[in-house]
Amino acid sequence: MCASNAIDRVLLPRNVQPIAYKLYLSPDLKAFTYSGYVEADLVVMQATAKSLTFHNLGNNLELDKTYMLYNTEKLYPVSDSVNHDEETVTLNFGGNPFVVGEQIKLVIYFNNTLGTSMCGFYRSKYMVGGEERWMATTQFEPVDARRAFPCWDEPALKATFEVILNLPSHLLALSNMPVVGEEKSLKTGTKTVYFQTTPRMSTYLLAFVVGEFDYVEGVTTKGGVPMRVYTPLNQADRGCFALEVGTKILDFFTDYFGIAYPLPKLDMIAIPDFAAGAMENWGLVTYREAALLCDRDANVSTKMRIAYVVAHEEAHQWFGNICSPEWWRELWLNEGFATWAGDLAVNSLFPEWSIWTQFCSAYLSSALRLDSMLSSHPIEVDVARSRDIDEIFDTISYNKGACVIRMLASYLGEKEFAKGLNCYLKRHSYGNATTADLWKAISEATGRPVGEMMRNWTLQMGYPVIHVESIEEGSKLRLSQTRFLADGLPTAEQDKVVWDVKVSVASDRTREMEYLSLSEKTATFDYSTRDLTWFKANAGQYGTFRVRYSADLLKKLVVAIKKKQILPEDRLGIVSDYMALSRAGLIPLTEVLELCSSYEEETDYNVWSELSAGLSAVMSIWESHPCYANFKRYKRQLFSKIGGRIGWEREGESDLDKLLRSVVLFALSTCDDEAVINEARRRFELYQSNPNSFPADLRDVVFRIYVYHGGAKEQEAMKEIYNRADVPDLKISALQALGLVQDATLIKNTIVWALNSGKVRNQDLHVVFYGTSNSQKGQEITWDSMKEHWDELVKRFGTGQFLLSRLIEYSTRNFSSFSKAEEIERFFLTHKANGIDRTVSQSLEKIRASASWFKRDSVSVSAWLNRF
Ligand code: BES
Ligand code: ZN
Repeated sequence: MCASNAIDRVLLPRNVQPIAYKLYLSPDLKAFTYSGYVEADLVVMQATAKSLTFHNLGNNLELDKTYMLYNTEKLYPVSDSVNHDEETVTLNFGGNPFVVGEQIKLVIYFNNTLGTSMCGFYRSKYMVGGEERWMATTQFEPVDARRAFPCWDEPALKATFEVILNLPSHLLALSNMPVVGEEKSLKTGTKTVYFQTTPRMSTYLLAFVVGEFDYVEGVTTKGGVPMRVYTPLNQADRGCFALEVGTKILDFFTDYFGIAYPLPKLDMIAIPDFAAGAMENWGLVTYREAALLCDRDANVSTKMRIAYVVAHEEAHQWFGNICSPEWWRELWLNEGFATWAGDLAVNSLFPEWSIWTQFCSAYLSSALRLDSMLSSHPIEVDVARSRDIDEIFDTISYNKGACVIRMLASYLGEKEFAKGLNCYLKRHSYGNATTADLWKAISEATGRPVGEMMRNWTLQMGYPVIHVESIEEGSKLRLSQTRFLADGLPTAEQDKVVWDVKVSVASDRTREMEYLSLSEKTATFDYSTRDLTWFKANAGQYGTFRVRYSADLLKKLVVAIKKKQILPEDRLGIVSDYMALSRAGLIPLTEVLELCSSYEEETDYNVWSELSAGLSAVMSIWESHPCYANFKRYKRQLFSKIGGRIGWEREGESDLDKLLRSVVLFALSTCDDEAVINEARRRFELYQSNPNSFPADLRDVVFRIYVYHGGAKEQEAMKEIYNRADVPDLKISALQALGLVQDATLIKNTIVWALNSGKVRNQDLHVVFYGTSNSQKGQEITWDSMKEHWDELVKRFGTGQFLLSRLIEYSTRNFSSFSKAEEIERFFLTHKANGIDRTVSQSLEKIRASASWFKRDSVSVSAWLNRF
């Protein structure tokens, strides 16, 4: 192993470099095993002893058949050793050292089982007419290619791949590239399928799938790329929506990046057991079913989700696949970028969805929330060991990454930014790059140096809160920055970083976006606010920071909020910032509740969504306090006007109003609005008698209210819907609702059922945990169940996978007492698993911040709420 870089990355020795793989695999879908061989062409880079170290995990190597071709020699290993921690094998071949520049071939035979862990080469179950069948598929990112076959499993070690699969003749085989040949054997009833060689690419992007599928197909307008969506048998129709948006989005990116899609085809396929949401394997993108398939008349949120996931994975076909991260430290380049670009593409296709406003409530708010904790990490974070990488696929890499990119793109202008991207992708095509390479390309292409400005945004964790004050009787503006921490003021030590903040500003006078540049702790600007009706900093919420105003400026903003003179993203940004400021102890909660009251006339979906999420989070902390009943009355009053306006059904309304309805009606139901609850019950009964006559967009909220305010009978009815459903979004909708039941015994039963009935796939277990943890009581039961089943859960998920982390997050997300934090901390001292440490620290920090908030504000809030 050789170590490099500050944190001692553990990399494979560089004495050889792979350039081409031939991979032959023969899966057995009855015995759940596979066997095969890999032929790796290697170039000698260093004159070392004839020793080869590569990754391997769980494959049984058949060493008696394994050899190396070196010039004309065929050499068999004289010794071998396994390094379990690094997941590598070393073979020693003896004889004279390697000669630099020579090419060798290593041939390894191996076999393995097709497991159910949803990583490596694994099996997934599907049903055909009540009969259980199995397919085999792959998930390699980040470091599980080595689980499927011996290989040099680092993103920088790009090579070409020639895949050959041997399978029963009636099955279909897919891989990154199109099929070039097929041989059938009548005797064995099998066929051998040969795939075209891939371009140079990273191991984590390789994929192959074997099973039974139907498909729909189309072709893009630019470059005529054939695209297919593979679905379960007899469900081809459910691929139509993804295909339609998928082809358009591929056209969009072809234009945007200024580079043609480089492979001869792009397939997208739904896999019934799938740990992530989707995976961008080059030319063969894999999805969980709910992220790809839907009926034509599916509801808006389902279509939004599918459009976004497809766009995100297609963005990776350029950003990530053509040009890949040098090492996992650059993961954010992949994920932050695809998160941003996914929204960019969806926005161009569906302008009516106000994607960038959604971005602010979905990504910006959550990025800022997580990054205000001491347990956060910089966007660019080095990881030494392979197995630590899973934890970096988190809100920081995705959401903060996307926010930082949006911040830069808006500052430079999107056209200029695109020029930079084009330069970056062309320069590093079929290669690897770092964050510095991206900044360099953008700087060169736009003539604007961005490296220095971006430095602290990616290399430091956290972000600032900008204090905005009008001074000298409103003739000047003073801006200052301090690090923002979730639970209080930073110490001098914690507040050392000075960010280069481009503060976008807008006012009733604004024609074009203006920026004030704050690269010191404090600066004063000749910017008069005296005659302004309103003034907003971080206008458009383009920046990854929070804003706190002096009283006079806030007062003006409140008027502008009431009159809706400022943009929805700005309206929701103020809610998000002020909630966080209060949680951190910088502002009394009563002031924030007062501020929220100025949103009674609000009509925008995203603003309500932010308000609703913010208030739910606060109220869950106050759930056991005697003032909770008043809290509910407060919330009900706030939501009542919009509730009356939006009602249950309206002709010809926008997609966003349909989403708004769900948010508002559910919020009202949680404040015991009997009319809403009764109407939901009535509508559920209608649904039961005729699901088809029921508006798709009402389904989720009706399900949720029905179970939330129901008992055993209601839950049983929902279970039946779940059990019978075969459309993915209906199934998930029912599963989400199931956990919302409020009776303790029923909550417990739900979790036991989810764990033991065999009806809930491992990939969906967190959906249940999310539901059951929605109340304090439910949170206790979820946490207790998680402790009780810990060993089993680790066995099911504990291979360093993020699904276990998600279960931990949901088992603890709503706690808010110091004693609970202690208990959880103690539990995890003695209960260890790979890749969960960061999640545990984040949970603890969040719980303690909530506890402090409650301690600080409960007396004043309780008094304030007496008026309701
Ligand atoms: N590259 C990821 C898939 C992935 C995630 C691999 C985690 C390994 C670990 C893919 O591009 C992705 O980001 N998938 C998302 C869905 C996406 C639409 C946000 C996911 O799986 O959550
Ligand atoms: Zn991604």
